[in-house]
Amino acid sequence: MTWLTSLTIAIGLVCHPVVAQALTPASASISPAHQQRDAFVTDLLKKMTLEEKVGQLRLISVGTDNPKEAIREMIRKGQVGAIFNTVTRPDIRAMQDQVMQLSRLKIPLFFAYDVVHGHRTIFPIALGLASSWDMAAIAKSARVSAYEATEDGLNMTWAPMVDITRDPRWGRVSEGFGEDTWLTSKIAGVVVKAFQGDNVTGRHSLMTSVKHYALYGAVEGGRDYNTVDMSPQRMFQDYMPPYKAAIDAGSSGVMVALNSINGTPATSNRWLLKDILRDQWHFQGITITDHGAIKELIKHGVASDPRDASRLAVKSGIGMSMSDEYFVRYLPELVKSGAVSMQEIDDACRQVLNVKYDMGLFDDPYRHLGPAGSDPADTNAESRLHRLEARDVARKSLVLLKNRLQTLPLKKQGTIAVVGPLADSQRDTMGSWSAAGVVKQTITVYQGIKNAVGDKATLLYAKGANVSNHKGIIDFLNLYEDAVQVDTRSPQVMIDEAVQVAKKADVVVAVVGEAAGMAHEASSRSNIVLPQSQRDLIAALKATGKPLVLVLMNGRPLALVREDQQADALLETWFSGTEGGNAIADVLFGDYNPSGKLPMSFPRSVGQIPIYYNHLPSGRPYTPENPGKYTSHYYDEANGPLYPFGYGLSYTTFSVSDVRLSSQTMKRNGTVDASVTVKNTGSRAGETVVQLYLHDVVASISRPVKALQSFEKVMLQPGESRTVTFTIDKDALTFYNARMQQVVEPGQFDVMIGLDSQRVKRGSFTLL
Ligand code: NOJ
Repeated sequence: MTWLTSLTIAIGLVCHPVVAQALTPASASISPAHQQRDAFVTDLLKKMTLEEKVGQLRLISVGTDNPKEAIREMIRKGQVGAIFNTVTRPDIRAMQDQVMQLSRLKIPLFFAYDVVHGHRTIFPIALGLASSWDMAAIAKSARVSAYEATEDGLNMTWAPMVDITRDPRWGRVSEGFGEDTWLTSKIAGVVVKAFQGDNVTGRHSLMTSVKHYALYGAVEGGRDYNTVDMSPQRMFQDYMPPYKAAIDAGSSGVMVALNSINGTPATSNRWLLKDILRDQWHFQGITITDHGAIKELIKHGVASDPRDASRLAVKSGIGMSMSDEYFVRYLPELVKSGAVSMQEIDDACRQVLNVKYDMGLFDDPYRHLGPAGSDPADTNAESRLHRLEARDVARKSLVLLKNRLQTLPLKKQGTIAVVGPLADSQRDTMGSWSAAGVVKQTITVYQGIKNAVGDKATLLYAKGANVSNHKGIIDFLNLYEDAVQVDTRSPQVMIDEAVQVAKKADVVVAVVGEAAGMAHEASSRSNIVLPQSQRDLIAALKATGKPLVLVLMNGRPLALVREDQQADALLETWFSGTEGGNAIADVLFGDYNPSGKLPMSFPRSVGQIPIYYNHLPSGRPYTPENPGKYTSHYYDEANGPLYPFGYGLSYTTFSVSDVRLSSQTMKRNGTVDASVTVKNTGSRAGETVVQLYLHDVVASISRPVKALQSFEKVMLQPGESRTVTFTIDKDALTFYNARMQQVVEPGQFDVMIGLDSQRVKRGSFTLL
C-alpha cells in the first residue's frame, strides 16, 4: 500500500526547505501568568539602554579569561546577563550582591552549570542511566542533582543531553541516552520534569537547557564538531523527537549545537531556531549558543568577520551567547547602522528576561541562596551527599554481558585478586562531566569489594597495566590536568606482578576499559578496542587459567570480540559515579541481581559503524541461514553486533510466551493490545525489561526493520509469571513520508516482543 493509493491519513506536517508547505499557525495559548510576565518584561525593556539590553545576552564563565575583578566591572556596567562554572553559594552570592549594589537596573544574574549526571553526588553517566530502563531511578538521579545544585545557588543546568547517536567513535555518546529515539525521548521528558520540578520557581527546581539542538550526535565519522548532513525523513523521524520531548516536558532552555546541518551551522540556522523551534514547536524559552559558537561561524565559512557573525546569530534567533564578547562588542553598532533592528535585540533580550522571571529571580534574586548565614560550613561535607540514592541508581545501570557457567555472583570467601588500571581509580569511576563531584569521595571497585567482603575473604591488588602505553594518548588525556596517573614501571613488570597476584587467587576481577577522559567532549576514537596495554594484561591473566571476571568501565560501546572469548564473565559498568564501587560489588556478589539492558548496539569492530538495530531494510538483506554473495554484509566480519540493543543478562532466567493480539485488525483510530507472559524460570528473584518493537511491512517509504515502541520493566520471583500487555495505537505507527507529511498507512504491521532487540516473539495485525 502506498500514499498514492490515497489511503494515507495525513496527520501533521513539518516545514522543511525541501518541501516548503504552508503551516496553519496554531497560536500557543497565553496564560494570565505569561501575560503578567510579558507586561513586566515589556516595562523593563523600556527602561533599558541598548548597551544594557545587549549586556543581558552575554553569558560568561569565571576563569582565567574573566577574572573576578573584570566580572565585577562588567556587572557594574550591565554587560553580563548570566554566569556559568561558579558553584558555591558564597561565590554566587558575591556576584548577585554586586548586581544589587553596583548596577543601574539591578537585573539579577542567573547561574548555570553542567549538572549532567550529578552535582556533588555523581550518578552513572547518562549512557549508564539509560541502561537502567528505569524511569523512577533516572528521575531520582535528576531530582537529587537538582536539589544539590540549587542548594549551591544554581539556577540552570546544561542538560539533558539528548543527541541520538549511532557512532560509538564519538566521545560524547557517554553524555547521551543512546541510539534509540523512543527511549531517549521518554528519558528526556522524565529528566526535564525531575530537574525542573512541578514549578520552575521552586526552591529546588533547576531550569533545564536541553542540548545540543540539533543533530550533534550525527557528526560524520564520529569526529567531534564535524559536519552533519541528513535527509529530512531521518532528521525528523529519528533525531529531532528527543529535543521536542524535552521541550514538551517544559524545558525552558535550549543549547544550540556547534555543528552545521546540511551546510548551515545550527547557530546561524534560522529555519532550525525560528521555523521549527518557535513556529512549529511553540518554544517560549531561551536559546543559548554553545561555547564560542558565534566566533566559530567565521571558521564555518558563513560569516566574514566578527561583526557579520554577530549579525547572523542574532537574526537567526539566538538569545544568549556563551563565552564570547562578540555580541557586546558588535551589536550596538549593528543596531546603529540598521543592520540589526532594535526589535531583534528586544526579542533576544526578552528571552533572557523571561527565563529570569520564570526562575523567580525578579521576586527574589537570592532565591537559591537563602540568607548569607545559612551557607554550608563545608561545601564538600559528606552530609551533603546522597550516597544511598547514588548506589541504588548505579546498580540498576550495570549490564551483565556474559556469565559463563554462572561465574557470577562471586562468593565472599577465599582469595580474590582485583587488578587493572581502573580498579582503584576514583577519578575514572566518576566519569566525565562530573560537575562538582569530589574525586576523593568516590568509591572504587577495589574499595567496594573490600567493603563487601570485610574479613570474609582475602583481597589482593595489582594495577597490572597503565590505561594506555601510548605516550601520545596519555599526553592528550593529561593536556589540561593531571587526569591519568602513570605507573613508571615497565609494562612487563606490572603484568608479572598481576600474574603473581592472580596465581594466588581463586578468582580474578580485572577492571579495564577507558579513562574518563577517553569518552568526553573532543575525545573521538578511530579505534574502539581496549588499549593494547590492557589487552596484554588480560591475555596474561587468562593464561593463568583462573576464572576471569572483566569489569568494564567505559563511556561508549567498545569492540570486545576478543574479551568476550577470554572472559568467564563480563560486566559493563560505564562510569558509575560516587557510589560506583559499592554498586558494582553489590552485583559481583549477588546482593543485587543485574537488570540493565544496553541502550546502544556493541559492534564487533569499528568497520561496522554505524551499526544500529532500527536500520532500514535493504534490497539484498543478509540472512545467516542463506548468506549468498551479493547480500549486504562485510565478508571479513561476522554479521550484526556483538551485543544488540536492549541486551543484558540476569542471574536468573526468563521465558517469554508467544505474542497474543487482541485483534488481527485495527481501525484507524482504534487500538490493538499485544501481550506476552513472562516467567522467571530460574531460582532467584530478578527484574527484566520486556520490549515491544514494531515494523511497518509495506509502506510508501522503507520503514525500519524494527523500532522500539514501548517497554515495561518487571520484577519476578522464582517461578512467578506475569502477563505484560502493550496497547498499540496510531501514534506508534506514524512516520514522515517522502513529502514530509506525518502519516499512518494502512497495511500489515509486525509486532515483536522480547527481552532484547534480537530474540523476539512475533505476531502481526492489519491496519484497516
Ligand atoms: C561545551 C559543551 O559542548 C557543552 O555541552 C557544555 O554544556 C558547554 N561547553 C559548557 O560547559
